[in-house]
Amino acid sequence: MAYDFKTLKLSSQNSIWTLEIHRPEALNALNNLVLSEMAESLRFISEMSFEDARGLIITGHGEKAFVAGADIKEMLNLSPEEALQFGKKGQSVFHELALLKIPVIAAVNGFALGGGLELALACDFIFASDNAKLGLPEVSLGLIPGFGGTVRLSRAIGLRKARELIYSGDMITASRAYEMGLVNLVTTQAELLPQVMKRFESILTKGPLAVEASKKAILTTWDLDIEKGFEFEAEQFSELFASLDSKEGMKAFTEKRKAQFQGH
Ligand code: CAA
Repeated sequence: MAYDFKTLKLSSQNSIWTLEIHRPEALNALNNLVLSEMAESLRFISEMSFEDARGLIITGHGEKAFVAGADIKEMLNLSPEEALQFGKKGQSVFHELALLKIPVIAAVNGFALGGGLELALACDFIFASDNAKLGLPEVSLGLIPGFGGTVRLSRAIGLRKARELIYSGDMITASRAYEMGLVNLVTTQAELLPQVMKRFESILTKGPLAVEASKKAILTTWDLDIEKGFEFEAEQFSELFASLDSKEGMKAFTEKRKAQFQGH
């Protein structure tokens, strides 16, 4: 199945969806239209049944850029009020992405700068090609990250490294990003999507309700105090005992066979 928007391509293969940002003339920079079309695509995917949507890949068109940031040409003449709307729109679309129930992997195939890195940070994992360059260069434009970067980067790599990257605006290589714990895997451009699919294939053999509950627990407990976090985890843990899948998973272990999960 494939759907072409003006700035995106949305397609699926074996219930894994790929959302490809497609603005080659601007290194896939995010303008208002991309954000609107992304919101529409995420709504579409979030309404699908468990069988039809089990994972999502976010990537950029071509071999040069994942996303080179928010569209600077479109931002040039924004008033502070318009910038507030634009920033809030980016934050809200990326938040919807982060809240999707299914696992989301950013396949970073080149420059992931500014809003591009902020987009990748809203995904569950980041896999990067070895030519990728990542950074939040907004200070070079006299700006700060505006699509969640100041919030998510420090949570991803710690305050000190986040401050250094944001204050300097430095672009780092994929291997440096790997060392920092910002990306999960670095591979060649040719191997990027195959490696992402391989990771999904292994996740798809696991209990889907359990993967969903893991995602929910990690996301929800992220900014809770530790006691409330434990409480939420215990609730999620106990709820899974009402599922047929958990019975099947534990029974399969005792019978020394592979579990057949049904998603309920
Ligand atoms: N917005 C709009 N257009 C962009 C763009 C962006 N973020 N990034 C690249 N482009 C355009 C260029 O203007 C150029 O178009 P023209 O051919 O019409 O001039 C085309 O894409 C190709 O780019 P370059 O010629 O610059 O390619 P390069 O190989 O020389 O450099 C690059 C590549 C280092 C990524 C450089 O394009 C660059 O620095 N881009 C801007 C990166 C950036 O600052 N991103 C942060 C944006 S601000 C932001 O994201 C705010 C936020 O948090 C919400």
